[in-house]
Amino acid sequence: MLLKVENLTHIYMPDTTFSKTAIENVSFSIEKGEFIGLIGHSGSGKSTLIQHLNGLLTPTEGKIFYNGEDIWSDKEKIRRIRFEIGLVFQYPEAQLFEETVYKDIAFGPKNMGLSEEEIKQRVYDACDIVGIREEMLEKSPFELSGGQKRRVAIAGVLAMKPSIIILDEPTAGLDPKGRNSILNRIKQLHESWGITVILVSHSMEDIANNASRIIVMDHGKIVMDGGTEQVFSRVDELEKIGLSVPQVTKVFFELKKAGYPVNTNILTTGEGRDEILRVLGKRGDMKC
Ligand SMILES: Nc1ncnc2c1ncn2[C@@H]1O[C@H](COP(=O)(O)OP(=O)(O)OP(=O)(O)O)[C@@H](O)[C@H]1O
Ligand SMILES: [Mg+2]
Repeated sequence: MLLKVENLTHIYMPDTTFSKTAIENVSFSIEKGEFIGLIGHSGSGKSTLIQHLNGLLTPTEGKIFYNGEDIWSDKEKIRRIRFEIGLVFQYPEAQLFEETVYKDIAFGPKNMGLSEEEIKQRVYDACDIVGIREEMLEKSPFELSGGQKRRVAIAGVLAMKPSIIILDEPTAGLDPKGRNSILNRIKQLHESWGITVILVSHSMEDIANNASRIIVMDHGKIVMDGGTEQVFSRVDELEKIGLSVPQVTKVFFELKKAGYPVNTNILTTGEGRDEILRVLGKRGDMKC
């Protein structure tokens, strides 16, 4: 088991009148190489939860184990954990602070104590993965567009070669082209490096196209945790907590309700096309 979260609770501003329990008694574990989608209504506790996974937030109660070791067992460990478990923030502005793009991406590898040469190599490799051109490296990160800022923030995390990458809404505010480009690169990385991915997203399509497991949060608790198909088959329950399923999945549930002999475990438009062809093909056979 790569990561284990045990009975995690986080209360913001405890012992004040503003006290807020953001996550409560959350437990789950992650195996190496998984691609997990984390979904939940706004305010359900997703960002709070993932900020615990690399020690940015300290638990009010509960524990986090990485490779079997309690991440809070000593200070040196938490430093190493931040290189191993990379977190791309919900708002890239929170992550970018250096005067040039190069320095921003080099920040993590520098802290790891790598040689200048190795740092440079890692910056160039990371830029290559996320599609940042060399001429951007000397620009200020603040001159960049939203999509470019996201790429730089992701590159900064990738340059540390983490074993887990957690992306908090990496495609928010991007147009469909930019969105697909970033997600495709993450997917390729997952396949080629075997990197473990946790993707937080409000887009059920993005989750369906990438994740093989989904964790659903509601009011600070995990309410579902299972395979993508299985979670997206619980359409009514998801709707009750303000979530949806991919549009194509919904269409097939409606077709089934209307009496068509279709399977409903359809997550992508490609699967939808195949299923329609299958059903039409069957009918054709029957006519013969
Ligand atoms: N720094 C903070 N201080 C106090 N309360 C906070 C803080 N950050 C978040 N909260 C509260 O904790 C709860 C969970 O917030 P969190 O940001 O984790 O949710 P989320 O699922 O990431 O939401 P979104 O989808 O909008 O990003 C919310 O009620 C939020 O208002
Ligand atoms: Mg959030």
